[in-house]
Amino acid sequence: MSKISAAITAVGGYVPETKLTNFDLEKMVDTNDEWIRTRTGIEERRILKEPGKGSSDMAVPAIQEILKKKKLQATDIDCIICATVTPDMVFPATANIIADKLGATNAWGFDLSAACSGFLFALTTGASLIESGRYKKVIVVGVDKMSAIIDYTDRSTCIIFGDGAGAVLLEANTEELGIRDSILRSDGSGAKYLHMKAGGSVKPATVETVLAKEHFAYQEGQAVFKFAVKGMADVSAEIMERNNLTAADIAWLVPHQANLRIIDATANRMGLDKEKVMINIQRYGNTTAATIPLCLWEWEDRLNKGDNIVLSAFGGGFTWGAILLKWAY
Ligand code: UT7
Repeated sequence: MSKISAAITAVGGYVPETKLTNFDLEKMVDTNDEWIRTRTGIEERRILKEPGKGSSDMAVPAIQEILKKKKLQATDIDCIICATVTPDMVFPATANIIADKLGATNAWGFDLSAACSGFLFALTTGASLIESGRYKKVIVVGVDKMSAIIDYTDRSTCIIFGDGAGAVLLEANTEELGIRDSILRSDGSGAKYLHMKAGGSVKPATVETVLAKEHFAYQEGQAVFKFAVKGMADVSAEIMERNNLTAADIAWLVPHQANLRIIDATANRMGLDKEKVMINIQRYGNTTAATIPLCLWEWEDRLNKGDNIVLSAFGGGFTWGAILLKWAY
C-alpha cells in the first residue's frame, strides 16, 4: 500500500471590503505613495472596520467557501488549526470560536502562534495529523486582523500591514501528491526586533502600558529586513537542493508578502523568473499568517495537478521556513 501524504484539496479566502490606500495613509502620517511603493511594493491594504469583529469573522467565510466548493458540512471537519497573532481574545483559542460559528461540532482545534510563518508551521502540523491516519479532514487557516495591533501614528509599521484570512482543507493522498517536505526554523533571540511589549504575562495591561502604546506591534524594520532576506532565501534554496530540484522544476514560489524586495531576493536566489512568483502584496499588504493561503486562493485556477510549489516565509519570533508540495488537483 502506498504511503499516505497530506494534500491541499481546496482553498478559501476572505478580505474585508474597506481599502486603506497609500493616499489615505498620506493624510494620517508623514509618508507618501512613492516611498511606500518603492520600499515595499504595497499600494493598498484591507481593513476590518466593523466594531466587534475579529479574526474569527474573517476565518469563518474563508472556511465556508471551502465547505461550499467541496459540498461538505461543517460537521465533517475533524480539526481546525488557526495560525494567528491576533486571536479574538487571549483565550479561549480562536479555533474554538471559529468551530462554534461554523457549527463544526465534531472538530477539535487550537491556535498556533508563529507570526508570519504561522501558516507554514500550521500546515506542517496539520499534515502530520493526516499522515498519522487518525484524521481525515483538517482545516488550516491563517488569519490576522493586524489593524487591531497597529499604531496608525507610526509610519514605520502602519504602512505595511493589512487584514485577511486564507484557509485550506487537508486530506489524505496516495498518489505521492501534497506536502512532500518542510523545513521550519525558529530563533527566539530575534524576539527583540519584532514583538508586542505588553499584554502578556511579563507585562500585563495597565493604564501606563496603554498610554505608552505598548499594545501595538513594535518592529525594528531594518534589522528584520536583513534577517528576512537571508532566512527566506536560504531556506528556499535548501529545500530545492535537498529535493534535487532546479528552477525549471518549480512551477510556483508562494512567498510571504512582507516586502517586495524580500520576495525578489528569494526568487533570485532560487533562480526563478518573476512569472513564477505569486505576488499580491500591492493589494493586501502584509496580512501576517494569511499571506500565503491568500495567494493560493487567488491563483487556484492557474494551478495544475503535479505542479511543484514552494511556500516560503520569514517573520516575528524569529520564525521562518519553506514547504515543498505537489499540487493535488
Ligand atoms: O512580515 C514580518 C516580518 N517583517 C518584515 O519582513 C519587514 C521587514 N522590513 C521592511 O520591510 C523595511 O525595513 C520597512 C519597509 C519596514 C522600512 O523600509 P527601509 O527601507 O528599511 O526603511 P528604513 O527604516 O531604513 O528608513 C529609511 C528612511 C528613514 O529616514 P532617514 O533616517 O533616512 O532620513 C526613515 O525615517 O525612510 C524613513 N521612513 C519613511 N519615510 C516615508 C520610514 N518609514 C517611512 C515612511 N514614509 N512610511
